[in-house]
Amino acid sequence: MSSVLWLSSCATEKVVQKEKMTAEKFPIIPKPLKVESGEGSFTADESIVIVYGQADSLKQLAEYLQEKIQPYVPEVSVFAEKKAGQKALLLNIDSADKEYGAEGYRLAITEKSITLSAARRAGLFYGIQSLLQVLPESEKAGFRLPVGTVFDRPRFKWRGMLLDCGRHFMKKDFVKRYIDLLAGIKMNRLHWHLTEDQGWRIEIKKYPRLTEIGAWRKYEDGTVYGGFYTQDDIREVVAYAKSRFVTVVPEIEMPGHSTAALAAYPQFSCTGGPFEVSTLWGVHKDIYCAGNDSVFTFLQDVLDEVIDLFPSKYIHIGGDEAPKARWRECGKCQQRIKDEGLADEHELQSYFIRRIGKYLNSRGKRLIGWDEILEGGLAPDATVQSWRGVDGALAAARSGHDAIVSPTTHAYFDYKVYKLDMRKVYEFDPVPEGLEPEFEKHILGGECNVWTERIPQEKVDYMVFPRILAMSENLWSAKEKDSFAAFLKRVDLRYPALKNMGVTWGPEASPVRIQPELKSDEPALLLNLIAGYDDLEIYYSTDGQKADKNAKRYEHPLRLTQSSQISIQSFLGDRAYGETGQLSFNRHLAFGKEVQIVNANSDRYPGSGEYTLTDGIHGTQNFRDGLWLGFQGEDFEAVIDLQQETGVSKISVNFLNNIHSWLFLPPQVEFYLSTDGENFQPAARIRNDLPLKTTDDLIKTFRAQFPALQARYVKIVGKYGGDCPSWHPGYGGKSWLFVDEIVVE
Ligand code: ACM
Ligand code: ZN
Repeated sequence: MSSVLWLSSCATEKVVQKEKMTAEKFPIIPKPLKVESGEGSFTADESIVIVYGQADSLKQLAEYLQEKIQPYVPEVSVFAEKKAGQKALLLNIDSADKEYGAEGYRLAITEKSITLSAARRAGLFYGIQSLLQVLPESEKAGFRLPVGTVFDRPRFKWRGMLLDCGRHFMKKDFVKRYIDLLAGIKMNRLHWHLTEDQGWRIEIKKYPRLTEIGAWRKYEDGTVYGGFYTQDDIREVVAYAKSRFVTVVPEIEMPGHSTAALAAYPQFSCTGGPFEVSTLWGVHKDIYCAGNDSVFTFLQDVLDEVIDLFPSKYIHIGGDEAPKARWRECGKCQQRIKDEGLADEHELQSYFIRRIGKYLNSRGKRLIGWDEILEGGLAPDATVQSWRGVDGALAAARSGHDAIVSPTTHAYFDYKVYKLDMRKVYEFDPVPEGLEPEFEKHILGGECNVWTERIPQEKVDYMVFPRILAMSENLWSAKEKDSFAAFLKRVDLRYPALKNMGVTWGPEASPVRIQPELKSDEPALLLNLIAGYDDLEIYYSTDGQKADKNAKRYEHPLRLTQSSQISIQSFLGDRAYGETGQLSFNRHLAFGKEVQIVNANSDRYPGSGEYTLTDGIHGTQNFRDGLWLGFQGEDFEAVIDLQQETGVSKISVNFLNNIHSWLFLPPQVEFYLSTDGENFQPAARIRNDLPLKTTDDLIKTFRAQFPALQARYVKIVGKYGGDCPSWHPGYGGKSWLFVDEIVVE
């Protein structure tokens, strides 16, 4: 009995060992369907010939491959036929074998030859990507591939990334670079978001003002931001994408997110305008008028030119976030509701989208819209892109419509990693839980969405990589996937290649939350470090050195008695996972002192408790980090009792600016001192020197410094700046003051 057990565990171990070796030899991302590795390798020290057979259509692919492997071999040539004795790499179309599907391939490597087979050119292209990932990282190592066979085909046919070039304009060459980066991980759709409230980016010959006016936004300080793609630019990008087997799907937003177009042609709004290309993020209330037939003529004209530029069968028309306030007040829109027998403005939106859908159909195209297009009834043959969770995908699929799945929870790469880390992306399955098997065929695939309000071109890599590696795997690889730890091993092997490609990737995760804890009878700060996953181990240092596995392992809360620099690193096994956390503990005069707050803070933002403002730990840029106190609609006013008279010469307090989330800075902060807690003398008043419309998220320190004064009580008043101003999407709503750490020295 025991020997049988021993044998079987030994056999299992062998299988595991073999799989590990295979993964190390073929560390391909996205993971292929099947890999069998053998012994030995194929090498070509002097020359190699790429043989593409008689199909001329493969010559281009052969030349693409030639260019890629040229650095590894002194001589790479491309021929239609192989001659005896040559080290050869064969490209082979095998259309009889149905196993490949439209994009699958087989890459067979022996010591003598390499044969890449597929039913279609796309499959060969993906086989080439796998081959390139298996080559040694350094060209100096020469052309060497492990013996083995890769058989591969994708799980989903729609594997996309949305790039928002409306909020930030991205240069044509940058877009082409992304097409290469996508193709390298076997993604095949670039969803090109080309029109927004903040900029219209596509030249339309019939309506030149769309780019003359609509492509440029003007800031209060006189700076102008913008740019657009000429039709030649677009043709160039589309042709480039085609050579990389990427379909460019344009998005022309309607009826909302259209302020830039309305700035150019205000007659297509409900009110007649005038409008300016927006300099603010968020949802805007002026949208295309649904009661005016000339709006449809305009949009059809625009779509005509779009259709001529983009061979894609699908055209994305947005449809998301269209507030109905203007339609409610517009005589023409209300007339349309009556004439068409519509129930309300939601059905009017549905009418709008159906009418556009019908037009697209008449031009041989199909419509995609965000999941709002489900409201008020779906246009026939419309495809739904589900973003507010996956309910939109479920509803679409169950009603026989196709769906593309890109929920905010797992696919929004504009979210920082503390909200969406690589592991969470890796947990994403495009087929929503609960979907009945008979409807699964309607899930075309998914996308990761890169909205760029806060992402100029130079920061796109940082937000997209490495998370997109996980997304590519969700979209291509089999449903039964590697453990996350095994995936990370392959990610590690990809980093050098990303570096060679000039990719400036960002962190994988920010998996540790800090929670300060102060007790009135304890002259120390207890710092709790909370790991985002059970299997993470946290290491930390308090001496300014960067934490690694030689640092202390976190087991119970840190007890801090002196100002210190804290470094935190979490590990998954032996591998560091996530960015290194850095924070400082500042033990100042008010540390651990009680704070009386005059107007109560919101229950939603209670910070870390009653010592939030005096615990020596500063809130981060993340307003939900549990370190900020939030006050809505009124002044912040607090009094600290230092317990004894002390010389005070510096006081500072931090406020958070994040106007997108309705967090504004106080117009001024007043500082007072008192010896008795009754009579307060003004010590300083610091005005906010930043404009109200500061769109960057930032922490602003209001710092007062004065000749030392004796005081026991310190009072701080941060003035409420008023309700959200008229230019703000939350116009008239109560804004917030977010405050943390009052430092007294
Ligand atoms: C969206 O994120 N508004 C589709
Ligand atoms: Zn109207």
